[in-house]
Amino acid sequence: MNCLCLVAFLAIVIAQSYSVLGVEAASSDGFVSRKGIQFILNGKPFYANGFNAYWLGYEATDPATRFKITYALQNATTNGLTIARTWGFRDGGYRALQITPGSYDELTFQTMVNRVNTFTKIAYKDEAAIMAWELMNEPQCKADPSGKTLTAWISEMAPYVKSLDSNHLLGTGLEGFYGDSSPERKTSLNPVAANVLGTDFIANHNIDAIDFASIHAYPDLWFPNLNETGRLDYLSYWIEGHMEDAESILKKPLILGEFGKPTETPGYTQAQRDAVFVVTFETIYESAAKGGPAAGALFWHLISDGMNNFKDGLAIVLSDKSSTNSIIGQQSRKLRLIGGGKGKLSRKIKN
Ligand SMILES: *[C@@H]1O[C@H](CO)[C@@H](O)[C@H](O)[C@H]1NC(C)=O
Ligand SMILES: *[C@@H]1O[C@H](CO)[C@@H](O)[C@H](O)[C@H]1NC(C)=O
Repeated sequence: MNCLCLVAFLAIVIAQSYSVLGVEAASSDGFVSRKGIQFILNGKPFYANGFNAYWLGYEATDPATRFKITYALQNATTNGLTIARTWGFRDGGYRALQITPGSYDELTFQTMVNRVNTFTKIAYKDEAAIMAWELMNEPQCKADPSGKTLTAWISEMAPYVKSLDSNHLLGTGLEGFYGDSSPERKTSLNPVAANVLGTDFIANHNIDAIDFASIHAYPDLWFPNLNETGRLDYLSYWIEGHMEDAESILKKPLILGEFGKPTETPGYTQAQRDAVFVVTFETIYESAAKGGPAAGALFWHLISDGMNNFKDGLAIVLSDKSSTNSIIGQQSRKLRLIGGGKGKLSRKIKN
């Protein structure tokens, strides 16, 4: 969702540190790295369930609202969620990252990765609890529908971020729409309206300094005229198509960075939301259980009680004991059993 902004410099945080997420340390102090189509944490493949929390920085700035973060993270932990995706940027105004459209402040980039966390005294670039950076949230360039301008921008920005911070993985934050480099996918998988957005899933990710591929999934918004069955079918095709391409063309892991079921969809029911989560999670799990590229899905978005200012039709309040929330907890447990988690299903690293 393009909620706050056009441009984001995002952090994907993993729950392996007491200080950041306040959970039991999942492992030692290693950074998440990549080997082929898998993420690796402490020598083992890393698959995990997660959530979006774009409000994290906002609520953290005021000590009076910090308890909301504690609540949200405690609830996330209870449901086994170990990846949070949050925002760290500003458009225009004081200390902006993007000063004016297309113009970036180098110092702000540097300030972000070199910032020393007040609580842990660790610079972000040295913080293993940060899993990865993403360049932007949902980058698009309508001025050049070919996707080439965006590819050039990523090719310039990605090595620059890596030069500032070589410890962390880097992604694009893309929604995943195909472009001219894959005409068949563009016809069969893109919503028609996406063809003018100037993105190219393959070309935008086929850049050395980009470590993993990113997609988002909102069939309700992309296909308002499809019925529920049609949207669910599309959802699995969309994720499966990208998993195939991540594995065979890009040879990189894939993160489903955003998905959800908006209550605004006419005829919305909780059962429909559950179906969206089940289809998404099963598609991801099927890939992960085979050592595939889909590392996890991050729903949009987690909030706590008392955060009604951030509540939208996609909000998930984990302290509600809803059926969707049990589905979320179940997926977390399943993913934990493969990869680096404790359990019989622990898998070998794929070459
Ligand atoms: C979950 O969050 C709610 C507020 O939304 C809070 O009252 C509760 O203590 C939290 N529970 C846990 C187990 O974290
Ligand atoms: C959904 O739409 C498809 C065609 O687009 C149709 O074949 C199917 O019967 C519809 N399903 C329901 C439950 O309305």
